[in-house]
Amino acid sequence: MSLQQKAEKNVAILIVLIVLVVSVGGLVQITPLFFQSSTTEPVAGLKPYTALALVGRDVYIREGCFTCHSQMVRPFRSETERYGHYSVAGEFVYDRPFQWGSKRTGPDLARVGGRYSDDWHRVHMNNPRDVVPESIMPGYPWLEENLIDVNSTIRKMLALRTLGHPYSDEDIQNAQAAVANKTELDAIVAYLQSLGTSIKTRR
Ligand code: HEC
Repeated sequence: MSLQQKAEKNVAILIVLIVLVVSVGGLVQITPLFFQSSTTEPVAGLKPYTALALVGRDVYIREGCFTCHSQMVRPFRSETERYGHYSVAGEFVYDRPFQWGSKRTGPDLARVGGRYSDDWHRVHMNNPRDVVPESIMPGYPWLEENLIDVNSTIRKMLALRTLGHPYSDEDIQNAQAAVANKTELDAIVAYLQSLGTSIKTRR
């Protein structure tokens, strides 16, 4: 009996061989990614989120915006024509966890920063139909009424610093003034305006 015949008739041998082949294949594909600088290092000029944008990011996650919006432009012409430069791994080094997603009930937001004015976003977040009459996005009118908690913001920044986000002592000292008396609406607008702006190749 050849090895192939033996393996096909004996489940134990077959399982061992399958596990071996799959793990070698997996290792060959995955291991290099941990050492490639293009997948682990921030793109030039990438900064960690400002205190206000950081709070906005948490509001984005809390409100479930990711259930309708992705944040990753794929490298296809149909996408780059519409959204701008495709996303690269180094843009997301300070995103924990990243918000790539694949559900696009609404447009991708990876490069929405700077596309609209702050005022547009404020009106849109409050009631999308005031600026886009056919929109099916829900309004988030309560964001305007929720004040930001200064202490938790500073704690978040300190926690991220231990994970390697380059916040200086000054950034952390200034955080208090940056978020005091600001609302969650201010925060989410700051977050949206920062998205995708570290690569300056947008149309
Ligand atoms: C039920 C799905 C849904 C949810 C949830 C949702 N959106 Fe939207 N969003 C849409 C749709 C559809 C559009 C396109 C129409 C429009 O501009 O309102 C849109 C558009 C946008 C735009 C404009 C994008 C562009 O390039 O024109 C922004 C910014 C945005 N949404 C942010 C948010 C944020 C922030 C949240 C969470 C607080 C959110 N969305 C939650 C469906 C959704």
